[in-house]
Amino acid sequence: MLDKVEEYIEEVKKATANTANELEEYRQKFIGRKNVITDLFSEFKNVPNDMKKEFGLKLNELKTIAQDKFNELIDVAGDQGGAEGDSQIDLTLPPVPNELGSLHPITITQNRIIEIFERLGFSVQDGPEIEDDWHNFTALNFPENHPAREMQDTFFIERNPDQLLRTHTSNVQIRMMEHGKPPFRSIMPGRVYRNEAISARAHCFFHQVEGLYVDRNVSFKDLKQTLYHFSKELFGKDTQIRFRPSYFPFTEPSAEIDISCFICKGKGCKVCKHTGWVEIAGSGMVDPNVLANCGIDPEEYTGFAFGMGIERIAMLKYAIDDLRLFSENDVRFLRQFKGVI
Ligand code: DAH
Repeated sequence: MLDKVEEYIEEVKKATANTANELEEYRQKFIGRKNVITDLFSEFKNVPNDMKKEFGLKLNELKTIAQDKFNELIDVAGDQGGAEGDSQIDLTLPPVPNELGSLHPITITQNRIIEIFERLGFSVQDGPEIEDDWHNFTALNFPENHPAREMQDTFFIERNPDQLLRTHTSNVQIRMMEHGKPPFRSIMPGRVYRNEAISARAHCFFHQVEGLYVDRNVSFKDLKQTLYHFSKELFGKDTQIRFRPSYFPFTEPSAEIDISCFICKGKGCKVCKHTGWVEIAGSGMVDPNVLANCGIDPEEYTGFAFGMGIERIAMLKYAIDDLRLFSENDVRFLRQFKGVI
């Protein structure tokens, strides 16, 4: 029995542990709850009396050096970097960065648009994405046979053809005017859906911001000045703005709004297709039929409205050339907006 103790003392003296596994093996054998030393202690009663003293001293010596060795081995294994023991920890390296998320470019752009209009006294309104024909089309003065009502543009709900995914945010205009009294001065951001093949330039869903201002004596010059101010705030003070006659069922007269291309400063580039101008919004004076459909007297009130695509504005502002990037959630794309607010 004494020989056994001597053997363990030798073993402990020579022990090495280059990996965490070897260290753990050592720990289980000599330190753990049921280890070889405690086994030997329980043999103590069988040791002849005249040997007890010597055996006890040796066993205590084994216990002490086993623990000292263990402390030593922990230090060595720690220096060697733990698990595999082959990677040294370099304490001079910078820490692994803790990655913070970023706002989505659509959110950033939408927030910026809201911020500009809020300073002009516009409130923000929300409305449903699943809409009925009245709010998406009929009340907005879409003639019965207007092509936008056809299946290729609109996602209808199969079980109820009167229900659809809104094709624009103009539905919120109607909901606001039906349920309140003028004056109205709001913008209405949100997601819209169209049955389009997905490509770099088109998607089956995207985002718009609608604007509506209805009061006594609102005129086209208010529309012009509002969008003039907005464009300069968003794209820079040198931005030029032009109104092109257009047609929307819900406005009369209607105009499309172009801004001077802020990338080439009007000289002509790929973004403006060498015209010097890029389109950013549709607009016009609210058609009297629309006001009447919402119970507002068109003799007393007038208003202007506008609508713009948020993706379109974000693409211009951040020089993004593929609409699909906005919905693919690729962190390599999203990461680039870190810190932008
Ligand atoms: N609803 C139009 C669209 O989806 C955008 C628009 C144009 C909204 C003119 C308006 C407006 O309020 O006056 O293309």
